[in-house]
Amino acid sequence: MTRLVVVGSINMDLVTLAQRFPAPGETLLGERFLSVHGGKGGNQAVAAARLGAEVHLVGAVGDDNFAQPLRDALLEEGIHAEHVVHVENCSSGTASITVAGAENSIVVVPGANARLTPGHVARAREVITRADVVLVQMEIPLETVEATLRIGHQAQVPVILNPAPAQALPADWLKLARYITPNQHELATLLGADPAIDFRELMRRSPCPVVVTRGAEGAWFREEGAPVHQSGFKVEAADSTGAGDTFNAALAVYLQEGLPIAVRKACAAAALSVTRLGARGGMPRPAELDALLARQRD
Ligand code: RIB
Ligand code: NA
Repeated sequence: MTRLVVVGSINMDLVTLAQRFPAPGETLLGERFLSVHGGKGGNQAVAAARLGAEVHLVGAVGDDNFAQPLRDALLEEGIHAEHVVHVENCSSGTASITVAGAENSIVVVPGANARLTPGHVARAREVITRADVVLVQMEIPLETVEATLRIGHQAQVPVILNPAPAQALPADWLKLARYITPNQHELATLLGADPAIDFRELMRRSPCPVVVTRGAEGAWFREEGAPVHQSGFKVEAADSTGAGDTFNAALAVYLQEGLPIAVRKACAAAALSVTRLGARGGMPRPAELDALLARQRD
């Protein structure tokens, strides 16, 4: 069983389904509304737990009505939440999401996530030291991301940095990551490079190994210096929210089986996640993952 520590955001996702996206200044009648649990950290923790990992989450919720349901949802998935702190006089993170077709647009208000400090990560040093792998994203303060990279590096525990949402980062931080997992656009932003440069060239320039996610087209990684493509898995898409989170979680869970296998399983898990509404809807259990892997062999 993989022991995983996730450091990251926890949000309440307020999801509106509409035929199309509203134009600025326009009021549109939508079709459906749902509030579901989300946030990149929470989502990655849930996806990994469903795949059978032992998961500890380091994160923060506020003191509003969303805080307790957000924590309870994590506990119901079997996630260890002793390092999920409650921040006073603060709202929990929210994401206002519009889904039109299978595409989404999202506005995130960090709330308590912005108050997750390097000190909170330092308090989780013991679980990090015992972990097989650590996952961190960028919906929390950058100094907290840096602390996670440094503590993982010191403890010789591989850290996967999912640079979403992307910002340029110092090259020496990136050296502390075992892998970075941007999409094509995030890779250019992360390296402070021109987005017109081919992502295969950017993969070569990165100071640490890169796994690039390409949505329905699967993913790219490098093996013995050469770029390798893993095809995407064919599914009927309902909502792509949380696909990247599912990809990262599966990558972490299966990393010990070697990168090519882990990337293949991550693509399959991400594909299954988009078949259901909501960031955590569709995140597979191992039996569903195995069934899809058996159905599509490349
Ligand atoms: O990656 C998907 C997540 O991004 C959503 O759950 C939303 O909360 C935003 O943080
Ligand atoms: Na989903």
